[in-house]
Amino acid sequence: MSQQSRLDRRTFLRRAGLTALAGTVGTTTPLPALTTGGAQPRGTPYDFDTIYDRVGTHSSKWDAQIARYGREHIDVGMGTADQDFPIAPQITRALRDRIAHENYGYMTLPESYLESIVEWNRRRYRLEIDPETILHASGVHPGIISTLRAFCPPGSKVLLQTPSYNGFYTDIRIVGVVAEESPLKLVNGRYGMDFEDLERRIDHDTHALILCNPQNPTGNVWSRSDLTTLGEICTRRRVVVLADEIHCDFVTRGHTYTPYATLDDEAIVRNSITYKSVSKSFNLSAMKCAYLFSTNPDYLARIRGAGQHQQSMNTLGVIAAQTAYNECEDWLDQLIAYIDGTHQLVESMVRSTVRNVGFVKPEGTYLAWLDVSDALDRIGAEDTAAASEQTTPETVLQRYLVEHANIHINPGSSYGLGGSGHMRMNIATSRQLVELALGNMAAALARA
Ligand SMILES: Cc1ncc(COP(=O)(O)O)c(C=O)c1O
Repeated sequence: MSQQSRLDRRTFLRRAGLTALAGTVGTTTPLPALTTGGAQPRGTPYDFDTIYDRVGTHSSKWDAQIARYGREHIDVGMGTADQDFPIAPQITRALRDRIAHENYGYMTLPESYLESIVEWNRRRYRLEIDPETILHASGVHPGIISTLRAFCPPGSKVLLQTPSYNGFYTDIRIVGVVAEESPLKLVNGRYGMDFEDLERRIDHDTHALILCNPQNPTGNVWSRSDLTTLGEICTRRRVVVLADEIHCDFVTRGHTYTPYATLDDEAIVRNSITYKSVSKSFNLSAMKCAYLFSTNPDYLARIRGAGQHQQSMNTLGVIAAQTAYNECEDWLDQLIAYIDGTHQLVESMVRSTVRNVGFVKPEGTYLAWLDVSDALDRIGAEDTAAASEQTTPETVLQRYLVEHANIHINPGSSYGLGGSGHMRMNIATSRQLVELALGNMAAALARA
């Protein structure tokens, strides 16, 4: 990674705003108002192009792969779904203000944070959320886990439309239930829901469906009509819908995200719980701050009761999330445009340079779902995988790309039925690194 400007530890800390604290904190520093963050005039351009080096920060996308494969084999980590950009400066300022007050005792959920959630969803998506119906969670996963516990007896089935985010399989395993996979239909490069298949898979032992919108890993953004048809089936068959909308802020040009909770039929909405977070949008995953809501008070009561949902809060996460929603919309809008442009770059580079790979620009997310069927043939991945029960053709290609292209991307086979023949590449990084990665990939596959 010769062109990458490597940051030393001091630079990293300075960028994170940490050294600024030295000598300024005191035990009597008053707690600033939660809304503090500092205004940034709208239109101030943010820099997503300069490479921001995360190596040495315990990043799972970078450091975990370097530990596994060696520094020399990771020019670009493109697996875990987080961003390589520095967060919006308003958030850093708000966090700095808060840490000047040196106490992190238990907190109550600030009303101002709930208001920021309500306002954000109203302003951007015309989604009305009653603040009384919001439960806090330290991530979308803990919310989904307590919901599955509340609705699904051990051993019962949870519907997934696959390929589907691999973390759902972990949640399902933790709760002791079983994934029932309904494959999406791939027609002309676009995935569609297979309603007949879905309904056929529902029986007396099916109590929940996890919906992902925008969909990870395919990037599909489901239409109002898709969601309504799905909702009708699930409501009629008494299957609770868990609508994971964590990727909702990233939608590419020409597409629209429809919150499940804005569907016209109230009964369909009442049969659902929605999960959201600032983590993907504002790159705050490790701040552990998410929320869920439902118009159905019985569902919320069950999640708290039988689901044993705990609303554990993280002070800095709440500050960061509230500041993101209140003050960082312009930063996000600029990032969405940047990601859209990067998807276009991937599309044109794949078409012109990366032989044996197919790509259709997704409707949402910052994930590129690559068709690698030809590349798998080229490196004989099927035969290599057949020799070991631990591997799939896609994990063979994953290792091949680490060893020959110095990039780490995720194998499609980890996303369930329909994921084979694909790899998932996270493009939420500087375009320079995306170009480097695709160039390396093209060269490695040309040599195969
Ligand atoms: C669809 C989806 N849901 C949930 C998560 C994880 O959410 P959290 O970190 O808030 O638990 C991810 C992370 O990649 C995701 O893609």
